[in-house]
Amino acid sequence: MSDYVTQRIDDPAAWSGRAIRDRQDWIVDLSPDQIDAIVAAVRTAKDSGRNLFELGRDEFPISALAATIDDVHRALEGGRGFTVLRGLPVAEMSEDDAKTVLWGLGRHIGTPEPQDGAGNLLHSVRDTGARVETTDNIRSFQTNDPQRFHNDGCDTFMLMCRQTAKSGGRSRLASAVQIFNDILAQRPDLARVLQEDFHMDARGQRPDGVTIQVMPIYHWFAERLSINLKLRYIHTAQRFDEVPPLSPAQKEAIALFEKVAEENVLEFDMQAGDVLIANNYTIIHGRTGFEDWPDPDQRRHMLRLWLTLPEGRPLPPVFEGSREFGASFARRMN
Ligand SMILES: [Fe+2]
Repeated sequence: MSDYVTQRIDDPAAWSGRAIRDRQDWIVDLSPDQIDAIVAAVRTAKDSGRNLFELGRDEFPISALAATIDDVHRALEGGRGFTVLRGLPVAEMSEDDAKTVLWGLGRHIGTPEPQDGAGNLLHSVRDTGARVETTDNIRSFQTNDPQRFHNDGCDTFMLMCRQTAKSGGRSRLASAVQIFNDILAQRPDLARVLQEDFHMDARGQRPDGVTIQVMPIYHWFAERLSINLKLRYIHTAQRFDEVPPLSPAQKEAIALFEKVAEENVLEFDMQAGDVLIANNYTIIHGRTGFEDWPDPDQRRHMLRLWLTLPEGRPLPPVFEGSREFGASFARRMN
């Protein structure tokens, strides 16, 4: 049963940006031997003759990274919630080879899952020139807008940076657990409101065609706190006649959440060759807006996977069938 949490949560995933900024344990520099192993694995993958989405761990052998991948897992669940792997030689790789590397690493960390209603398993994150506000199904990652804090779908996302923007596009992370603790300390009443239902625009991505999802932002389940943060889509849901207006308490709770999130942000520049791996239940992320290069071939380019984890946490029943966590929920049943 879901329940309400009314006490501070003691969890290594609770950290402030101030506290973690000067720690370097969340950045893992890949060694030359590990990079060689990854480059060799790309060749093995090509020699297998399989297409990208048929590649398994055996077609992407990276035993030199076994200990590093164990560390990534420990950080994801039971640790600070995220890791940045640094140093992939993406400038020397084709786009296809970079996709193979991300997919191969992902297969060793978890199971890649669809990221949209169409079932795409690997997304390119780049500016398409489209706008969220004037369409029904364009999502934030397809624009150059600043992205407010949110979480992605599935247990974990992996984001590989191939190319950076001309300026801006800084990565922003914060701990959803720390934010909760801070809200609880200031306004326990609003900590409760955030554990009650909100209406969210499903952006045409629900497999069952439901346009509005109703669920809380914070979920306390099996002694863990999980978040589903879709503030932008809570606001766009307000355009539907059947959605009730946000209550004053809900507006206040969202405003406090955003204020406390800013107080706790960890901001950093992803470099070409970085891979960010983060737990979606404890880590929220965003980015600053960006200005891109005139040459389309040079433009900011990220590749993204969503994964379920073999050691994923128990999930609240309300996640069943949800656009963000339905696949993860279904995996727990297998
Ligand atoms: Fe995202």
